[in-house]
Amino acid sequence: MFVFKAAVVGAGTMGGEIAQTIADAGIPVVLKDVKDEFVEHGLGKARSVWQARVEQGKLEAAELERRLGLITGATDYSSFGDVDFVIEAVPERIELKQAVFEELDAVTPGRAILASNTSALSITELGEVTGRPDKVVGFHYFYPASVMRLIEVVEGEDTSPGTAQSATNFAQRIRKLPIRCAEAPGFVVNRILNSSVSELWRYQVETGIDVKELDKIVAESKAAPVGPFYLSDLLGLDTVLNVAMHLADAYGERFCTHPGMKELVAAGNLGAKTGKGFYEHSS
Ligand SMILES: NC(=O)c1ccc[n+]([C@@H]2O[C@H](COP(=O)([O-])OP(=O)(O)OC[C@H]3O[C@@H](n4cnc5c(N)ncnc54)[C@H](O)[C@@H]3O)[C@@H](O)[C@H]2O)c1
Repeated sequence: MFVFKAAVVGAGTMGGEIAQTIADAGIPVVLKDVKDEFVEHGLGKARSVWQARVEQGKLEAAELERRLGLITGATDYSSFGDVDFVIEAVPERIELKQAVFEELDAVTPGRAILASNTSALSITELGEVTGRPDKVVGFHYFYPASVMRLIEVVEGEDTSPGTAQSATNFAQRIRKLPIRCAEAPGFVVNRILNSSVSELWRYQVETGIDVKELDKIVAESKAAPVGPFYLSDLLGLDTVLNVAMHLADAYGERFCTHPGMKELVAAGNLGAKTGKGFYEHSS
């Protein structure tokens, strides 16, 4: 299927830049959140990606405005009546995502593919609440979405081969690198990433080393650009904790869930997006 118009639901850490990647390929996209200020936040993220390119001499200022003009902000579903491909990027809670999928099923044309950026939840369970489980698929970007090329196209039990192929084609059209994977816990990337990050989290718990010191050692070793605690802050501690708990449930104690992270999440300190996590962040 050819995507003439797309939509993204949720304009948080991921959604704004997901919309940016779609508009970057010349495709009109609606960016929906529940409040104007959240929509503005997402549009601001998209603008800042293009603004950096303007400053580097890689993009004309007029082109920035043209691409930004392809993103329509929304707090309701009134412009979803002619969309072909929707990417849901709301917080990682199954009941919330299922409610959004029920709504999307009602407001989008029957031909539309309903995709989820979920990091760990079941695509099958998202499809089950719709009348089109064959058109429900995982479309998992990585942070930051404007930079990371990989997209995991995740097939649920009911996802049709045609839907998986259309999602793969769409990923290529927006110049990403799709890989197809089954609905296994952690899919491919988070299963690999968390197996090593788990060891660092566990080491911190066992030794009591200061998290900033451990991050510094990892960054200086050049094993990764930033350490695991700073990275978790950037990704959002609620999201990271959800994935970690899901992997521990599925594969057992070899996947660590960090107690300090649990305390921060319980206190509402979710990292960069709330201004405080393992680190303090200015907005
Ligand atoms: N943060 C990451 O690094 C990352 C990476 C890959 C995938 N993901 C996945 O992407 C999804 C979103 O994660 P995030 O980090 O962007 O979350 P986030 O908390 O930063 O943003 C979620 C946004 O969804 C909005 N929202 C909540 N309910 C909504 C509704 N009913 N309709 C529209 N918008 C609604 C919130 O207001 C918020 O702006 C999750 O499934 C997560 O697992 C996250």
